Amino acid sequence: MITIDNLHKSFGKLQVLSGVSLDFGRPGIYAILGPNGSGKTTLIKSILGMSIPDKGQIRFQGEDIRGRWDYRRQIDYLPQIARFPDNLRVSELLDMIQDIRGEKPQALGRLIEMFGLQPFLDKRLGNLSGGTRQKVNLVQAFMYDSPVLILDEPTSGLDPVALIRLKALLLEEKAKGKLLLATTHIMNFVEEMADEVVFLLEGRIHFRGSVDSLKREYRENNLERAIARILQGEQGFSANGHSQEAARMARSYEL
Ligand SMILES: Nc1ncnc2c1ncn2[C@@H]1O[C@H](COP(=O)(O)OP(=O)(O)OP(=O)(O)O)[C@@H](O)[C@H]1O
Ligand SMILES: [Mg+2]
Repeated sequence: MITIDNLHKSFGKLQVLSGVSLDFGRPGIYAILGPNGSGKTTLIKSILGMSIPDKGQIRFQGEDIRGRWDYRRQIDYLPQIARFPDNLRVSELLDMIQDIRGEKPQALGRLIEMFGLQPFLDKRLGNLSGGTRQKVNLVQAFMYDSPVLILDEPTSGLDPVALIRLKALLLEEKAKGKLLLATTHIMNFVEEMADEVVFLLEGRIHFRGSVDSLKREYRENNLERAIARILQGEQGFSANGHSQEAARMARSYEL
């Protein structure tokens, strides 16, 4: 469905992606992992055409996305930080999205109920708690039935009940044969949900495979520890800023 070939992206002197090649050919849930600043959001934005690569190619269902926008209709997207106007009420935002899209949503009432948002529909976005705002963000991402869903930190700020609902929703969408890409730093979520993980570090893909194969490869039963092994391995190879970040991450895993 999505093929990424030799993607490069830098911001000024900062090389963020340096030769990322990935193929999301089969439906399922893919977790895109990597430390803060490793380029996960940049990769996602590149797929959406919101970040223009310096080099490389992205194909959506076989066709180069460069200069195109129509394919985006087939992707539902949850941004990491949704910047909607604070003075907008929740119901106004949801109406606005329907106006822009020009289509009736599939399951809006059910989603509002699932995330307990009924009491907040008349409230302004700026007055909502972070978790409630994330629930609104999730509702807008799930309200259409596109074949691809890209979720940048969907678990962010959610309480346990909302997290359970989100996981159920993801499994429902997966059962429909969709392709789901999600970034997260919550390893329990990855263990439970991901068919495959992609680990991004130093601008490159350092691992791609199932959670079990990652644990096997790094000889760890615990996913967090296996990931810390990837980061520790990187520590020895170079001494630039990213590696210092990797070393810091490894220390934060207390290894
Ligand atoms: N528009 C931009 N201009 C300049 N630098 C940017 C821009 N967008 C991202 N960056 C930089 O690129 C690097 C990768 O950022 P990105 O947001 O892709 O990381 P991430 O893996 O999503 O991190 P996180 O886990 O914190 O969400 C960071 O160093 C960031 O500061
Ligand atoms: Mg990010």
